[in-house]
Amino acid sequence: MDKFHIVGPSRLAGRVRASGAKNAALPALAASLLTDEPLTLHSVPRVRDLRTMARLLDHLGVANEEKGDAGTIVFHRTRPNNPDADDAPYDLVKTMRASVLVLGPLLGHFGHARVSLPGGCAIGVRPIDQHLKGLEALGADIQLSHGYVETVARRLTGARFRFDMATVTGTENVLMAACLAKGTSVLENCALEPEVTDLANLLNAMGARISGLGTATLVVDGVDSLGGAEHTIIPDRIEGGTYLIGAAMTRGDVLLENGIAADLAPLLDKLADAGATVEVTAEGVRVRVDNELVAKDVETCPHPGFPTDLQAQYMALMTQARGVSSIRETIFENRFQHAPELARMGADVRVDGASAHIHGPTPLAGAAVMATDLRASACLVLAGVAAEGETVVDRIYHLERGYEGMELKLQKLGARVARWSTTPAA
Ligand code: EPU
Repeated sequence: MDKFHIVGPSRLAGRVRASGAKNAALPALAASLLTDEPLTLHSVPRVRDLRTMARLLDHLGVANEEKGDAGTIVFHRTRPNNPDADDAPYDLVKTMRASVLVLGPLLGHFGHARVSLPGGCAIGVRPIDQHLKGLEALGADIQLSHGYVETVARRLTGARFRFDMATVTGTENVLMAACLAKGTSVLENCALEPEVTDLANLLNAMGARISGLGTATLVVDGVDSLGGAEHTIIPDRIEGGTYLIGAAMTRGDVLLENGIAADLAPLLDKLADAGATVEVTAEGVRVRVDNELVAKDVETCPHPGFPTDLQAQYMALMTQARGVSSIRETIFENRFQHAPELARMGADVRVDGASAHIHGPTPLAGAAVMATDLRASACLVLAGVAAEGETVVDRIYHLERGYEGMELKLQKLGARVARWSTTPAA
């Protein structure tokens, strides 16, 4: 298992580009199941979750071909007669919850799907009841059997459906299914995350008729078929936000060249409150810190609130701010696993149910730490960059699910990070 070896402290300074957004690319890949024509996607990040999705799609009959080195991949469903063409098996789904995103497209296009239920996950239980209720509202007959969702509907019918809570992949799944339903669907209380809007833009480019993009109510006029399209995935606001937090944490100065300020607003507002200088220019989004930071509370919320996917990294930052900050995690029930690892590096963090209280600033000292999930890994890497001495972050396969070339990007910003490969040579 590979590890990151970090020698700190370093000040992060320079320019960095975010890769395409993992959480926008995942549903975009799944959308290739909605058409028989080629779908060309640019800026697909080279991260493990996308490779997993491509493998699942390959199993479902969608071939993929990489073109050039700008993350361009053409997806084309070339094997429509595969007998397993509607079956997403447990072996593939268990490694990544987002596999459930194939359910809506399979059902919408082929009228049937059999997808393994994703199991629990390190950060929480994460049910998919809203995905299923939304598909049922469109006329799907859904059975849960032997750990699988089995669903049929000769052709879905447009309907009005209100999500009980804002769910990102739930909105995406039902939206994709509704595109090929007969008649109009009105989906209410949809997630507002930029990744949902990116998917809706792609679907419209494929010939879907979705309106209300960027609002909580999406109206979908169903069409008989969707065609191919060419689409560039939006930059990853969580990856970019991670480097901006790193800049603030190390009293550095980082320009995120392709940062979209509106998508990053909840983080940028918080960084400015804490004392960072935030500049949005034609060149990108720049964060720099000259003086001491002050502690600021955060509560994670659906977009446009503070994203749960930056909570762990923000906790690392607050260890370096003066005062007591409270972080309340409202989205996932088990997303503080980085706290005890940070404490091992010298942070004063106390977790109390859904809240964590951080007393800062505390000097951080390098240590051997263990990554437990994707964003927790990023938090520990940032802590290692800011800490005095050597840090070894174990189990960075979690990090590789969502960060493309993180060690290279950090090196360019001045960090001393190396990958230690412990995988025996073949
Ligand atoms: N929920 C339900 N029932 C459902 C769906 C969701 O109770 O049917 C609950 C969840 O348990 C959670 C809340 O609703 O408490 C919101 O979950 P959501 O469905 O929005 O999460 P998700 O779609 O499974 C996506 C991202 C996550 C990100 C969350 C929240 C993808 C592939 N994943 O997950 O990304 O944390 O939205 O913004 O888009 C990550 O990248 O590290 C990551 C975990």
